[in-house]
Amino acid sequence: MNMAQLFEKKKQGKELSQAEIQYFVEGYTTGSIPDYQASSLLMAIRLLGMTDDETFYLTKAMIESGDVIDLTSIEGFKIDKHSTGGVGDKVTLIVTPIIAALGIPVAKFSGKGLGITGGTIDKLESIRGLKTELSSQEFIDNVNKHKIAVAGQTGNLVPADKKLYALRDVTGTVDSIPLIAASIMSKKIASGADGIVLDVKCGSGAFMKTEQEAQVLADTMTAIGEKLGRKVVAHISDMDNPLGKMIGNKLEVVEAYALLKGHMDETHEDLLEECTIISSLMYQVAAGVNEPEATAAVKRVLEDGSAAAKFEEFIVAQGGDLDDIVQKDTMNKVAVKAPAEGTIATVNALLIGEASVSLGAGRLTKESELDYDAGIQLLAKKGDHVCKGEAIAYLYSNREIDEEAMDKVQKAFTIA
Ligand code: URA
Repeated sequence: MNMAQLFEKKKQGKELSQAEIQYFVEGYTTGSIPDYQASSLLMAIRLLGMTDDETFYLTKAMIESGDVIDLTSIEGFKIDKHSTGGVGDKVTLIVTPIIAALGIPVAKFSGKGLGITGGTIDKLESIRGLKTELSSQEFIDNVNKHKIAVAGQTGNLVPADKKLYALRDVTGTVDSIPLIAASIMSKKIASGADGIVLDVKCGSGAFMKTEQEAQVLADTMTAIGEKLGRKVVAHISDMDNPLGKMIGNKLEVVEAYALLKGHMDETHEDLLEECTIISSLMYQVAAGVNEPEATAAVKRVLEDGSAAAKFEEFIVAQGGDLDDIVQKDTMNKVAVKAPAEGTIATVNALLIGEASVSLGAGRLTKESELDYDAGIQLLAKKGDHVCKGEAIAYLYSNREIDEEAMDKVQKAFTIA
């Protein structure tokens, strides 16, 4: 077998076999297949797609490229969630303590952000002292003791994805449904959870721009998970507008903690609504209860303070300093003003995401240095009425804030 044969088959629109896909994944991971051949195949997949079987074999080969985490020493049904990535998406920080407060073990591996979509690990690492690199034993002990642990993906979890994702990122092949589905599901399955809730984002700030594409991605990932014996539920959510009020690592932790404590003036209803839906789905999958029961349970742990207490327990258990979860007041701060009076029709998530990256909240390359404090606070959201000259957002950074970021944020607001 060689790559030229695989190219030929793909060009003729024929299906690649399991052995051929395995050959490609193994060869690329171990270095016997060079970048230029792998990129060629990735572009063919990006343009021509993959059948359901090909996508499944790709996922399986990727899982088999590295370690599979064994969570059997954690008692109970282990639940995980995954978001396909969005702007201001701090849902994991909120739903994981909610689920743990309901007594369901949450054993979660998360990633760092790249581009406009943030990553949970960066958000957690913005808290002084917090450790996201846990040994397997520490991770398991924390879940058994506190019902919750969130850690960075270990070195040898799906090494094929690490190489393939880095290559896709620079060859214009990230936005491919089969490649995204295999990338996400290989990591979720290798992470060992019994059930997975997928939050598939759709809109300007997401990989999937339309609801139709988001539905295909959701169906593809659900089918893969079920074929591999996992309980999987997918939810499609709007990412035309950023979620909540804060965008940026520390800012999002501050907002998540405020929401858990019931301080609704420091957050927005859209975030509470989204977190209620995702945590209710996680509880339904893990506990086998119906939707009204699950939603009532979620509301109960939010209202009685046990979800906020679980968040504090989790942060302290991983070495984090709760006193550090405050918005720093010594950074550069500028206000962006409304250019006209009217009602906000939309706040473009893509532009807000790009501006937050330029402030230092996100990475343009894997090597970029983050400014954990940097980001954007939205003072007005879709549907709000604003007057000309009123502040609609604050920009924060420890670096100098340039005109370009301010312009981008102003342009993100469509005022009708
Ligand atoms: N997130 C991933 O983990 N992989 C993708 O391909 C896209 C989003």
